[in-house]
Amino acid sequence: MSVERSLVLAKPDAVKKKVVGKIIARFEDEGFKLLGLKKLKLTKEQAGQFYIVHKDRPFYDELCEFMSSGPIVAMVWEGENAIARIREIMGATNPEEAAEGTLRKLYASNIGENAVHGSDSVESANYEIPFFFSELELIG
Ligand code: RTP
Ligand code: MG
Repeated sequence: MSVERSLVLAKPDAVKKKVVGKIIARFEDEGFKLLGLKKLKLTKEQAGQFYIVHKDRPFYDELCEFMSSGPIVAMVWEGENAIARIREIMGATNPEEAAEGTLRKLYASNIGENAVHGSDSVESANYEIPFFFSELELIG
C-alpha cells in the first residue's frame, strides 16, 4: 500500500450534464484528499498531447474532438492506492460493461463520452498531473 496521486478529469459530457459536483462528492466520500482543481477548455492539439499514448488507435481523432468540445474539470486526488481505487470507482471504459454504482454506469453516455478520466498507472500520473498543475498548485 502506498499513497498515490491520480489525475482525474470530468470530461465535457459530465460538465454538460452538471454532474461534476456528484463526481467530486464521490471521491470525497471515498476518503480521498483533493489537492488541485480547475476548469478549462483544451484545444484539439492539447487533447491530442494529453492522450498521446493513443495516437495510433482508431478512436484517437474522435477522442481529441470530444475532449476539446467543451470545458472540462481537472483534479488531483490523493490517497492510499488512489490509482487503482479511482479506476474501480470510475468503472469500465464502456458504460454498458461498467459495474452498478460506478461513475461511468451512473453518468457516462457511451464508450467515447464516458464522463471521467483517471490515471491508469504511476507512470501515467507522472505525465498527466504536470500537464495541468504545477507543484505549487497542489495543496494538501
Ligand atoms: P481514460 O483514459 O479516459 O480514463 O479511459 P480508459 O483508460 O478507461 O480507456 P482508454 O483505453 O485509455 O481510452 C481513452 C478514452 O478514449 C475513448 N475511447 N473511445 N470509441 C471507442 O472505441 C473508444 N475507446 C476508447 C474513451 O473516452 C476512453 O475513455
Ligand atoms: Mg486510459
